[in-house]
Amino acid sequence: MSSVNDIRSTFLNYFKDNGHEIVASSPLVPRNDPTLMFNNAGMVQFKNVFTGIEKRPYQRATTAQKCVRAGGKHNDLDNVGYTARHLTFFEMLGNFSFGDYFKERAIELAWNLITKEFGLSKDKLLVTVYHDDDEAAGHWKKIAGFNDDRIIRIATSDNFWAMGDTGPCGPCSEIFIDRGEHIWGGPPGTPEEDGDRFLEFWNLVFMQYEQVTKEERVALPRPSIDTGMGLERMASILQGVESVFESDLFRNLIDAASSALGHGPNAQNVASYRVIADHLRSSAFLIADGVLPSNEGRGYVLRRIMRRAMRHAQLLGASEPLMHRLVWALVREMGQAYPDLVRAEKLIEETLRLEETRFRKTLVRGLSLLDEKSAGLKKGDMFDGDTAFTLYDTYGFPLDLTQDALKSRGISVDQAAFSDAMERQREKAKASWKGSGETAAEGFWFGVRERLGSTEFLGYETEDVEAKILGLFRGHDEVDRLNVGEGGVVVVNQTPFYAESGGQVGDHGTIRQNSDSANISARVLDTQKMGDGLFLHAVKVENHGLRVGDVVRLDVDHERRSDIRRHHSATHILHEALRQVLGDHIAQRGSLVAPDRLRFDFVHPKPITPEELARVEDIANDVVLENDEVTTRIMAVDDAREAGARALFGEKYGDEVRVVSMGKSARAHGQNALGWSVELCGGTHVRRTGDIGLISVTSESAVASGVRRIEALTGRYARKHANDTMALAKTAALELRTSVEDVPARIAALVEERKKLERDLSDARKKLAMGGGPNVSGSHRTEDDYRDVSGVKLMAKSVSGIEMKDLKSLADAGKKQLGSGVVAIINVADDGKAGVVVGVTPDLTSRFSAIDLVKVASEALGGKGGGGRPDMAQAGGPDGAKANAALSAIEQAMAGA
Ligand code: ALA
Repeated sequence: MSSVNDIRSTFLNYFKDNGHEIVASSPLVPRNDPTLMFNNAGMVQFKNVFTGIEKRPYQRATTAQKCVRAGGKHNDLDNVGYTARHLTFFEMLGNFSFGDYFKERAIELAWNLITKEFGLSKDKLLVTVYHDDDEAAGHWKKIAGFNDDRIIRIATSDNFWAMGDTGPCGPCSEIFIDRGEHIWGGPPGTPEEDGDRFLEFWNLVFMQYEQVTKEERVALPRPSIDTGMGLERMASILQGVESVFESDLFRNLIDAASSALGHGPNAQNVASYRVIADHLRSSAFLIADGVLPSNEGRGYVLRRIMRRAMRHAQLLGASEPLMHRLVWALVREMGQAYPDLVRAEKLIEETLRLEETRFRKTLVRGLSLLDEKSAGLKKGDMFDGDTAFTLYDTYGFPLDLTQDALKSRGISVDQAAFSDAMERQREKAKASWKGSGETAAEGFWFGVRERLGSTEFLGYETEDVEAKILGLFRGHDEVDRLNVGEGGVVVVNQTPFYAESGGQVGDHGTIRQNSDSANISARVLDTQKMGDGLFLHAVKVENHGLRVGDVVRLDVDHERRSDIRRHHSATHILHEALRQVLGDHIAQRGSLVAPDRLRFDFVHPKPITPEELARVEDIANDVVLENDEVTTRIMAVDDAREAGARALFGEKYGDEVRVVSMGKSARAHGQNALGWSVELCGGTHVRRTGDIGLISVTSESAVASGVRRIEALTGRYARKHANDTMALAKTAALELRTSVEDVPARIAALVEERKKLERDLSDARKKLAMGGGPNVSGSHRTEDDYRDVSGVKLMAKSVSGIEMKDLKSLADAGKKQLGSGVVAIINVADDGKAGVVVGVTPDLTSRFSAIDLVKVASEALGGKGGGGRPDMAQAGGPDGAKANAALSAIEQAMAGA
């Protein structure tokens, strides 16, 4: 028996042997198409290669592509569980030629694979071609030896394949197998074609055109090939089972559900088992690719799928949440082919458990309301749309869940009434936010969001995305274009740009036109969030104007974002390290996460000592070196708090929160179970702590009473800081003619030496000032050591370069020298100002007061007053040039006294 895994590898290797490059599946959320909800075909990742915009190093490729067909143009959700072949998630095996081979070789390759490698019997096979495609019909005749009766011509869009409303497209040829008369159904093109007897398993598309707009179709530069084989369908064929759900992979999933439920499928409930197995796959793969349940866009499609599965689990009698208990089985089946599934296993389990736990609360009550309101209805009746809306609004029943619940009884839902009720609700909501006192700007952007819808953020998973421009603004003026040289705001349907929040700054990057990808159309200078979910990209248009409706490529400045990630994760790590070193009272008060630095404010009553700071830094860097994975999950806010997640004080959180954890968990630290650091956070982070490189705390300070701030650098900024510091040390060492290691000792010695020299210099100056030597600069003698003023000795000197404090000791020395007398010394400083000290020996203080004399001098120097005691006083004045006049004034005052 060929298992699903065998078939996948046989297919890929067959095309590899035929010169094709094996290319990995692209994510379910398309990065290169703004119009597609989910990746729904193998060719999506090659869309721009077909149209010639993008070049690859190969011209032939083969893939196993994850696909979801639920929501959008290709939507199989309603059929799942009720047919043998419909799935919301499936793998499409494909081979592609980008202008290399065309119809003939494509048909030949396909024919050889299915008849030779897979060993299908020619007698059971038949094909369709587009009604006017004689060329393809001719190749089939030649290569497969088919007669006309086995080549069915189809004129409808069934045989003209298009990815969506726009994009590459072309006529196609589908390969069918007849599974035998015992199954109901007719060949393609007959009224019974929807039956399961004739199963289409491979579609060969002859890509020839590009649908540019609804009306305009142009030829592709080079005709190409795109094929898609349903892996699950091929498995059911090769395993000889009638339905995809009976193939090995699905059987194993259904077995896992059976053992969890304690009973297996029977004719009545098999559809529920199938829905659960299919929806488990689509939910898990969507979550692994970054989609999380929400009430809008992709997240809502996921929620619909999950809730639909949960209702079927309920139908099967599950008394507690079921879906998350099946994830291990899926990972066992598909983890090897899709390692991302293994990586996301925990996230998938938790997301499913949370959704199911919450939904179960209303599911049972909703179902009884549904039963009650539909009790009197019979086949062909319509279920009341208002009740369907109540089920949606109050009980969380997506419309298709209600439809699904009524489907087996042949009852439909009044969708028009449902939509009316929804519209009334929206009007009410609008009226209430209008009345809630928003600022004018908020009100404006709320209005824009109402009209354009909220922006889907894809930036956790990717940094480049194609998007459609929905709105352009100059201030609050909505415009239909922004021209080269202009600045403005761009609103798109989906974006990889992070809008400033939670302390993390907004992303920068570029916008390019698909048609002019070589040139940057506009630079994104900032990204902000407004109007509850509207991302505003502030741009400056450079080379190519932007118009509403343009499909553009958005690229986040990767280096800057990586720097931001490092600083954000480091902020979490420092937060926890601070708590460990300083205590549990540490509570975040604010933060800034920028590309080139981080700042973290927190409650702590006193300065942090250098030793504490060093410990914080050591702990933080140990976590970096651990290189543990950084994980994010969505949790109920109460569960998150219970698990010890740290939240920002005073911040409002919704019911469900994003929780970021990092560092080796719990067990080692005896804390909570999620990780070493666990925080509620919407920001972007590194993948592993080792990506941070290095954390270096650069400062610690106070911002307000009881609030401290640390600033730190990470990654290349930390390294630059370390390098700059080292360069400084080297320059210093060079100047000091020593090694870096000896710089501190050398500086200490120099400081010591300098102190000594200062002391010596001061002594020398004092000596000189008091008459120690001839004509030395910094001091000069005025006259003889003293003169006689009315029988009293007066020592009067004008000096310079003497500190004020030294003037007094000079005056004291003078007094000693005189034995009895008055000493007046004026120092003229470099800036021309003067200080004056007057000393009077005790025997004379009854005749002269030093205070009076110093005042006289001070006046002469242009100053006012002075102070001290009768035996020693000091003063100053701005006019040092008058030093001699001041000394004369003292002499006169003494003479006159
Ligand atoms: N793109 C083609 C399909 O999805 C092969 O059927």
